Amino acid sequence: MTASAPRCDKTEAWAALAGHFEAHGRDLDLREAFARDPGRFDSFKVEAPEVFADLSKNLIDVATQRFLLDLAAECQLEARRDAMLRGDVANLTEGRAVLHTALRAPRGRSPFNAEVHEVLDRMLAYVETVRDTAKSGIRHVVNIGIGGSDLGPQMVVPALDAFCHRGLTFHFVSNVDGHDIAPVLRGLKPAETLFIIASKTFTTQETMANAQVAKAWFLEQGGTDTHKHFVATTTNVKAAAEFGIGTTFGFWDWVGGRYSMWSAIGLPIALAIGADHFRALLAGAHAMDRHFADAPLAQNLPVLLGLLDVWYRNFHGFASRSVAPYHQGLRRLPAYLQQLEMESNGKCVDLSGTRLPYGTSPVVWGEPGTNGQHAYFQMLHQGTDVVPVEFILVKRPTHGFTDLHTKLLANGLAQSQALMLGKSTQQALGEKAPTASRELDAATVARHRTFPGNRPSTTLMLDELTPRSLGALIAMYEHRVFTAGVLWGINSFDQWGVELGKALCNDLLPRFASGDTDGLDASTAGLMERLRS
Ligand code: F6P
Repeated sequence: MTASAPRCDKTEAWAALAGHFEAHGRDLDLREAFARDPGRFDSFKVEAPEVFADLSKNLIDVATQRFLLDLAAECQLEARRDAMLRGDVANLTEGRAVLHTALRAPRGRSPFNAEVHEVLDRMLAYVETVRDTAKSGIRHVVNIGIGGSDLGPQMVVPALDAFCHRGLTFHFVSNVDGHDIAPVLRGLKPAETLFIIASKTFTTQETMANAQVAKAWFLEQGGTDTHKHFVATTTNVKAAAEFGIGTTFGFWDWVGGRYSMWSAIGLPIALAIGADHFRALLAGAHAMDRHFADAPLAQNLPVLLGLLDVWYRNFHGFASRSVAPYHQGLRRLPAYLQQLEMESNGKCVDLSGTRLPYGTSPVVWGEPGTNGQHAYFQMLHQGTDVVPVEFILVKRPTHGFTDLHTKLLANGLAQSQALMLGKSTQQALGEKAPTASRELDAATVARHRTFPGNRPSTTLMLDELTPRSLGALIAMYEHRVFTAGVLWGINSFDQWGVELGKALCNDLLPRFASGDTDGLDASTAGLMERLRS
């Protein structure tokens, strides 16, 4: 929302969408839509750099898309996008620019370019010295960070396993729960270990506590050169120096935590895949940035996905979206997207602070296929709630077990097909149900074996999971989140919602020692007493 942009629910397009939803949207049947229009797949496929998308199994028609694009125009999406990419203050409540796109722009092409490339060059030169393991002696890299200082590297390193240095093992410690760091330290030797203390602020309780534990362990175990074995990635260079760290790779306040894997926070990624592949990751993201900036909105993949999010959340009332990456390497992608989407768009006031009358971020969740199929897909197919599913398929594997890969892809396709097609009671009646109880009549069993179908899904497809394609995929998600945030009229770049818990924790901590429960609610006081006893 700029001064002149109306909030989405005050636009003409919103009213038109509401009318369209009542007349055609609510009852749109995908099976009929495909039967009516043999060109539906072609009409709703989108080609973006490195990512192909099939939107045709979504509950939309051409008119839905047209009204959604009108909504984007009325909410001045393009102006807001251009302002962000230019470096205007897009994070209004914190008075900051939002320029993660500048981190992946080629030399000479964006704001802050000189600083960005100075740190990048220095970091990648350092990376090569560590990766020369015969000389560096490093065998284990432990990233200590949480949220945006953890989830990106923790997601990317396994995703790009095929490109990773075979002599280095990566560990990620995030939780203040000692059960996280204890098993990691158990197998390590100080002389072979590099600790990365990753924290934008260098004040986060969990990270600082784990960093202290790591340093104490290092010294107790006879470690000698802390300057070699501890590095920091942070905007707070001074605090890192006070901690006793000599090598720091900095970044800037215009890089949001959950948008920071492209900055020095990506150090574990660069250590794993090396300088050239890290640059390819950035280049893939940059290609998606160009697509987002330049492609007409009707062919702009992140924009179309963001619009779909609004359509599902605000008109269909779907409160969650499931992400199903059919690639084991992407097993941490749902967790990464949870922060990206829910910390960005989980807001209930608009830019002027007015309470919103409509829903914002859906719950984002998922597991890699095919594991999810044997856990919660039952609910997706026959549960009472409709959950749009996002399938991510990768055409070519990086292993040689082609038969497994074909089975994997067939499973992914079959699930999106099954969600859409369903199975009528009539069809079920005509089938044998091998495990059905003989006590039940056939009609009852058939009702249990009925699938409503018409359940929406999107399929995203990559040719291969490479640094470049992964960079493009993640940048696509970032811009999708931005698009939905603009339409919802919220600030996608702050996270005040995490502050209250932090403050209350600081109040409770000393009470654990003193036992003082004064002023606490009865539940918190009762629980604390039980924990202390
Ligand atoms: O959870 C709140 C948050 O500020 C995230 O936005 C951020 O990614 C995380 O904490 C870690 O913060 P830092 O990098 O400053 O340690």
